[in-house]
Amino acid sequence: MKDKLIVFNWKMNPAEAKEARWLGAKVKTISSRLKKVQTVMVPPAVFLPLLTSTKPSRRWSLSAQDISLEKETGAFTGEISATQVASVGAKYVIVGHSERRGRGDTDDVVRGKLMAGLMAGLSVILCVGEKARDAHGAYLDFLRAQLISATKACRRADFKNLIIAYEPVWAVGDQAAGADTPDNFFHNALFIRKVISGLAGQETALSIPILYGGSVNSANAVEFLAAGRADGLLIGRASLVPEEVKAILLLADQVKVKVKVKK
Ligand code: PGA
Repeated sequence: MKDKLIVFNWKMNPAEAKEARWLGAKVKTISSRLKKVQTVMVPPAVFLPLLTSTKPSRRWSLSAQDISLEKETGAFTGEISATQVASVGAKYVIVGHSERRGRGDTDDVVRGKLMAGLMAGLSVILCVGEKARDAHGAYLDFLRAQLISATKACRRADFKNLIIAYEPVWAVGDQAAGADTPDNFFHNALFIRKVISGLAGQETALSIPILYGGSVNSANAVEFLAAGRADGLLIGRASLVPEEVKAILLLADQVKVKVKVKK
């Protein structure tokens, strides 16, 4: 079984560098002991260099929360490029997060950032998810359109460096209605694999990691990994609570996937 990928998105937290160092040290200590989990910390870009280590671990790595569309250096005040975040230790970048889409990242921007990340050698965590769910399944058309649009410029080989995070927008953040159910995630992840199969072939569709995100905590994490068969989790609020981080990581390391057997 592949390692579970547990991604901790710190968003615009913590307030100060010393807290970021402290939280980072905790995550590193716990994650380094695990056998079946890859941990990814996603701090604000300004904290990335504080979290790199002279003793790199196979068990944890760093991600940027966002990158510029611009690939080359230049007169782009306030922007941070994929190459720059890679040069201070990031291995991943998140694109298409609902909080970025909500601040103006259109589908075209998401596609541009995805390509900029890949060109800089980063693995790209592409977030997709509907704002509302309807009983007739129209939200699946929306998901398909998001996936197709974001990957339109990808060659087949590029998909090997992509990770999909399925995050229903209504389940993400402070205002969330609560998490999705593992069963819904399971079916939506199958749907995502079907779309990827059409874009990049069956082999890629079966191997691409699909994460669940949205109101994950230590009480529901295992069910998404076990019953929901998620390849990993994208976690926001609980990332900032060390006891939650520890509990989630230890649980993820022990998880046994439930295979559904039809009688
Ligand atoms: P949440 O955020 O866990 O706080 O709902 C998820 C995310 O940022 O992707």
